[in-house]
Amino acid sequence: MARHPILKMGDPRLLTVAKPVTAFDTPELHQLIADLRETMAGANGAGLAAPQIGVDRQVVLFGSGAVNPRYPNEAIIPATVLINPVITPIGEEEQSGWEGCLSVPGLRAVVPRWMHIRYTGFDEFGRTIERTASGFHARVAQHECDHLIGKLYPMRVRDFSQFGYVETLFPELSALEGDDD
Ligand code: NI
Repeated sequence: MARHPILKMGDPRLLTVAKPVTAFDTPELHQLIADLRETMAGANGAGLAAPQIGVDRQVVLFGSGAVNPRYPNEAIIPATVLINPVITPIGEEEQSGWEGCLSVPGLRAVVPRWMHIRYTGFDEFGRTIERTASGFHARVAQHECDHLIGKLYPMRVRDFSQFGYVETLFPELSALEGDDD
């Protein structure tokens, strides 16, 4: 396993539509998942997408099964590997909530997302995943899957008066060790 540098906003590799995975349960795919997992854990990330480490594949990780120290007031999300995902909103309700991104370090903004979604895809063994999610779980899934279509959360912001630096908005969070988001 290896912790990789995380690409930052401005890198054109964050703005492309990622290629689908066509072969499951391969050494290469397991290595990619291991590298993403280590990189995400090392950065206290709520999620990470393959394009963020420069890999042009439709692979995202999110959740850890525990409270994330960067989002201490949010619900626990199960540790999830999601490949070739499809997100479908359930209903039309939106919810606004704070988001950060390891590719946009030091900043956060209020971003509108679908409140309730269904997401489908595959795990690294090619097993089908189909889940419904709401609230923070749904938000994180939408944020990560956006990385696979070249969208970073600032592109979703509608109210730029709620966009700022973590150290100013949430001084208690900016003290987290090793955390640049
Ligand atoms: Ni992100």
